[in-house]
Order: sequence, then structure tokens, then C-alpha cells
Amino acid sequence: MLLAILWTRFAPWTFQLRTPLVIANWKLQGSRDLCGKFKSELRIPSNVEVWIAPPALYLDSLVSGQPTSAKVGVQNVHFDEAGAYTGEIAAGMVRDLGGIFSIVGHSERRTLFHETDQVVAQKFLACCEAELTPVLCVGETLDQREEGIAKEVVWNQVAEVLEKCDPAVFGRAQLAYEPIWAIGTGVVATPEDAEDMHGHLRSMIADSTVLTGEELRILYGGSVKIDNASQLIAQANVDGFLVGGASLDIVQFNSICQIASGN
Ligand code: 13P
Repeated sequence: MLLAILWTRFAPWTFQLRTPLVIANWKLQGSRDLCGKFKSELRIPSNVEVWIAPPALYLDSLVSGQPTSAKVGVQNVHFDEAGAYTGEIAAGMVRDLGGIFSIVGHSERRTLFHETDQVVAQKFLACCEAELTPVLCVGETLDQREEGIAKEVVWNQVAEVLEKCDPAVFGRAQLAYEPIWAIGTGVVATPEDAEDMHGHLRSMIADSTVLTGEELRILYGGSVKIDNASQLIAQANVDGFLVGGASLDIVQFNSICQIASGN
């Protein structure tokens, strides 16, 4: 069974379709020292893409001098391109500094900073306009999962964005399923639960848009560690990881990237 899944996942024809992607989300952590480690010690397997989302202040440290071999982006942008928004950064500025993506709608932004689905959709569009790739995060609370409404909640978060943007544009984004109860808790979704949600999202996208869903990478996030990554990546619809805590240690992060390569 495992061999069959691995074959489907990493066979040359599917491999071309969705190269595994691993994103480091440092959150409000990191330093010049960590940037240095990610420039000199990061090892990216040839069949994996690696992106780093440091606090925006460190974007330039990662791209200047001898730049990191990973693509770099940010964890959040404002929805407007400029204006009187003290403390905010714009998608165009990230692009100007050499960033290529922004995380959008992370559950910590939704809950701690009260970002509504509408604001998330505006930020998604702001990224697209500035030619940054949005990494749209969706996920349910433990209560919602226990109530049996996880799929509905998560799909509604995606649908809110889809309603406001051209599906072709949406098709160039990345999606990340991050169950809120798994973030920073050490409790990881079972591979079966992750696969079930990822498969659901992909088929809903196929059913409700002109996209087939096959081109879209759907990453899993929430307590990804060396010891659970291989079972997760073996799932046919898990196309990589959004890694928080374990991305602050270059050795662990390198191992997770290696596991994502399937080698
Ligand atoms: P942890 O890997 O620390 O659980 O964080 C997940 C996350 O929120 C990544 O965006």
C-alpha cells in the first residue's frame, strides 16, 4: 500500500505536476544569525522547492550578499498598496526587496489580529496584483472538528477568496491546510485526516471552478516534525509542508526537506 502511494506521489509524471514545497514560517522569531544559517547550511534536495518566511525585517538579510538558495517571502502584507497605515508593509514592497510570496490568512492573523475572511480575500488580491504568490492558510478549530463541520468551515474560507478572484489567478496560489488545534501544540493531524481534508479541498476546487485542482499544491501545517513528516508526505494529496517551530532549527528543517523529497 505504502509503495503504491509513494509511486503515485513521486512517479515522474505526477512529480512534474506538483513539486513538493516546504515553507519555513519563522513567525515572530529569528535573527541575523538564523538568516546566516539559512544562507550557509540550508540543503535543498533537487526535487523539492523551499521557501522561507522570516519576519519581514529579515527579508533583505536573506536575499542580499551571498543569498540563500531558497525563495523568500513574508508572513503578512496589508491589503492596500500604500497609504496611512502605520506599521504595515505592502505586497509591492516585498516584491521590491526580492520577495516572491506572502502567507495570507494564517490562523494567528485571523484570531489574534481579527482578520475576517473578507480582509483575507483582499490581501490575497493585493498579493496577486503585486505579483507575489499568496499562500492561503485555512483550518478549523478543535470545537469545529468535534462538531463535524471541519470540511464546511475550511471550504468556506477558500470559497470567500474564490468568490473575489479569477480562478485562473487562484490556480497560481498555494493552499495550506493548518488545523488550528495542531499549530504549536505538538498534536499533529493523522495522515488520514490530512489526506481526507486535502482531497476534499482539491475535489471542491474541481467541482466549483474551471480548475482541475490537480495543479494546485496543498501543503499541510501544524506540528510538522522529523518523526511525522514521512507519513504525511506519503499521502497523495499532501504536496509539502508549512513548518513553524521545526523551521527554527536548520538541522531539523533540512531533514524535513529531505523527507519531502521522498529520498
Ligand atoms: P508549528 O509547526 O509550530 O505547529 O506551526 C505551524 C504553523 O503555524 C506554520 O504556519
